Amino acid sequence: MYSKGDTLIFSLEDVPRRDESMSLSLMDKIVSLCKRRGFILPGSDIYGGLSNTWDYGPYGTELKNNVKRSWWRANVHLREDIYGMDAAILMHPRVWEASGHIKQFYDYKSDCKSCHRLFKVAELKNKQVCPDCGGRLTEARPFNLMFKTHQGPVEDKAGEIYLRPETAQGMFVNFLNILDTCHPKLPFGLAQIGKAFRNEVTPGNFTFRTREFEQMEIEYFVHPEDADKKLEEWIEQRYSWYVNLGIKKENLRKRPHGHDELAHYAKACTDIEYNFPFGWSELEGIANRTDFDLKQHAQYSGKDLTYFDNQSKRRFYPYIIEPSGGVDRTVLAFLVDSYREEEVRGRKRVVLGLHSDLAPIKVAVLPLLTNRGEIVELARQIAQDLKKNLVCVYDDTAAIGKLYRRQDEIGTLYCLTVDVQSLEDRKITVRDRDSMQQERVSIDKVREYLGDKLNLSN
Ligand code: GAP
Repeated sequence: MYSKGDTLIFSLEDVPRRDESMSLSLMDKIVSLCKRRGFILPGSDIYGGLSNTWDYGPYGTELKNNVKRSWWRANVHLREDIYGMDAAILMHPRVWEASGHIKQFYDYKSDCKSCHRLFKVAELKNKQVCPDCGGRLTEARPFNLMFKTHQGPVEDKAGEIYLRPETAQGMFVNFLNILDTCHPKLPFGLAQIGKAFRNEVTPGNFTFRTREFEQMEIEYFVHPEDADKKLEEWIEQRYSWYVNLGIKKENLRKRPHGHDELAHYAKACTDIEYNFPFGWSELEGIANRTDFDLKQHAQYSGKDLTYFDNQSKRRFYPYIIEPSGGVDRTVLAFLVDSYREEEVRGRKRVVLGLHSDLAPIKVAVLPLLTNRGEIVELARQIAQDLKKNLVCVYDDTAAIGKLYRRQDEIGTLYCLTVDVQSLEDRKITVRDRDSMQQERVSIDKVREYLGDKLNLSN
């Protein structure tokens, strides 16, 4: 269990599905690297932590932003049919009646009468006693997953409001606004990245399941007769996105939902799953939501949410294909997948072999000697110059061997070393993260050299 201080909540997901001590220790190594290098840190740490909350530190924030930027680029900037948006987290309470969340967004929980641990009933798999201590379990009780709060200074029923449990609804309720402002033709989509909140019964597995998380969602509006085909296309496109950013194919699979697993709004859904150290688990779901959402919002708001098709002169509710992924899970998958250990001249080297679009730092400039002012000054100048084009850091806080190890662990693509000879021949040593090959490059050519090497799309 990777959440700290959470004594009451126990997730069966924390029990390894594969008996591979290797994998378990891999998860420990990822959590430890994240803390050691400032990728992901326990939330409210100095107060002993708030269970299952995590703060992204400097490198984690860069990585997360790069994941979101790559997603946005692939799904908004490189397409002509998708519009980006950023809707409010707080929405009219009627939205959640229309969406079905008030009635349907429940988990069933049961707790142990002896050790008081809380379980999600679906995860108990018909076990009648506590899987932990063998104690008697209470009857299953429904539990709405939405976070409730109050809007305004008076805490009464009229001010009750929810933190959104998915970003999707912000796009459905803007369907009409987008038709009026952008005049799109079917098929077209809306894309959004933002926070969502769910009062999960059993959060856990580090950042895999938390109560506050970020989603990357697309709502793609299509002719109803094209929905099945578009669903298949989106499954392939989303699968390729992960592969193109370096996730190994053997760690990725598509899993169609059985009828008994489908959400209340979905006619079909396929999950893209990643082979996490704790078992195959969902990264993203791609669903055919039919015309459920637009019809519901039309009924509850009284607004006409149909689409008029100029060609056929028909008015109808479009179907919606929804690729919906989690930012935090995706970041975790990239961390796990890119982690490797190697032996170099009898010593262990840890590398995050992240794709160049995702690596938090592209280049580090390191002076070989810090007691020579001219070397430090030159190294700082080079770093400052490179910062104009890419994410570059200057570091002189340790000896060169240690600096290389640090940069390898955070996935920095190139290390540039400035030495005594650089002062004479105006050349520096460029070290490649993956091959560890070193090359002397002229200082005035280094920007061009890196530009060619780094296929930087962000
Ligand atoms: N709009 C559809 C929807 O929200 P979902 O399968 O419930 O569908 C979509 O959520 C994605 O959001 C999941 O595939 C997962 O990546 C992410 N997600 C859901 N709950 C999460 C949680 N508690 N912690 C982290 N990520 C979560």
